[in-house]
Amino acid sequence: MDGAILVTGGAGYIGSHAVLALCDAGHRVVVVDNLVTGFAWAVDPRATLVQANIEDAAVRDVIAEHGVRAIMHFAGSVVVPESVSDPLKYYRNNTAASRSLIESAVAAGVAHFIFSSTAATYGIPDVVPVAEDMPKRPINPYGMSKLMTEHMLGDVAAAHPMNYCALRYFNVAGADPQGRSGQSTAGATHLIKVAVEAATGKRGHVSIFGTDFATPDGTGVRDYIHVSDLAAAHVDALNLLIARPQQSHIMNCGYGRGYSVNDVLDAVDRVTNLRIERRYEGRRAGDPDALTADNARILSTLPWRPRLDDLDTIVAHALAWERKLGERGA
Ligand code: UFG
Repeated sequence: MDGAILVTGGAGYIGSHAVLALCDAGHRVVVVDNLVTGFAWAVDPRATLVQANIEDAAVRDVIAEHGVRAIMHFAGSVVVPESVSDPLKYYRNNTAASRSLIESAVAAGVAHFIFSSTAATYGIPDVVPVAEDMPKRPINPYGMSKLMTEHMLGDVAAAHPMNYCALRYFNVAGADPQGRSGQSTAGATHLIKVAVEAATGKRGHVSIFGTDFATPDGTGVRDYIHVSDLAAAHVDALNLLIARPQQSHIMNCGYGRGYSVNDVLDAVDRVTNLRIERRYEGRRAGDPDALTADNARILSTLPWRPRLDDLDTIVAHALAWERKLGERGA
């Protein structure tokens, strides 16, 4: 296949899985990552790694040198509470840096752009499952910083010969089934990562934030999607952008069903044969009761179908990766 795919943030959690999926599909891949939160060892050896910031002029050289025809843009900051305490970091890393990258893409004539967006663009939805055309009212700078980049891409695609796909991720979890990558960044706050850290003795318990949500068991409900299914959706989205260069897309990436915090912890207990201590605590600020994806659009637009849509499988893969990290002393 002609031209390389540039993956920003390809040393990070989701980006490294996209690199695996692209390499497995026979694409030539070049990764640009500043390795602030990512790891060089997480990048598939079949890909080329360039350590740089995405706003650096070096990116234009990478695009030219590798004949980049498409960009998958994962690089960014992802911690919601941090976005509240340090909003300018998020508008810099997720919005301003994306602007620079998109400018480099346009200047070099890159034809296709895939963007990591988020369910946080919806804020607290009036209705779940939430569909793409429902109101976008982010309740934190993280969600707003990503929504602003979506808007930029819409305007740029109307003005320049570039099409794009923004994928709005729901709760991404799990790890590569072959054990080649996983979630490795320290200081995790995401539920499944926290729970498998508890299961492997890195924490003593799991806090359950809130028991009075309007959900069947009172704990928060989310749409957990396996990271390898998500990576596969990116490869299909790329193929669609190439096949239909006049069209751009915004699509939810979720399975369209929800699990509560207790459901997730039950799955972890089942998979580990342990009983992890649960501490019932107050709500975190800004958590919606339930957030699940209406995924009709992605199912009707892409050939993509969930393959790893099973909570125990997601947990088992996350756990296997956590054990592997433990063996490396991480
Ligand atoms: N939770 C706990 N205990 C924990 C961690 C989480 O009870 O230790 C609960 C949360 O309250 C929530 C659920 O588990 O009900 C999931 O929480 P996560 O922190 O794993 O994920 P979020 O749903 O808060 O965040 C996800 C994405 C973000 C995105 C956000 C949009 O990871 O990137 O959805 O709402 F911004």
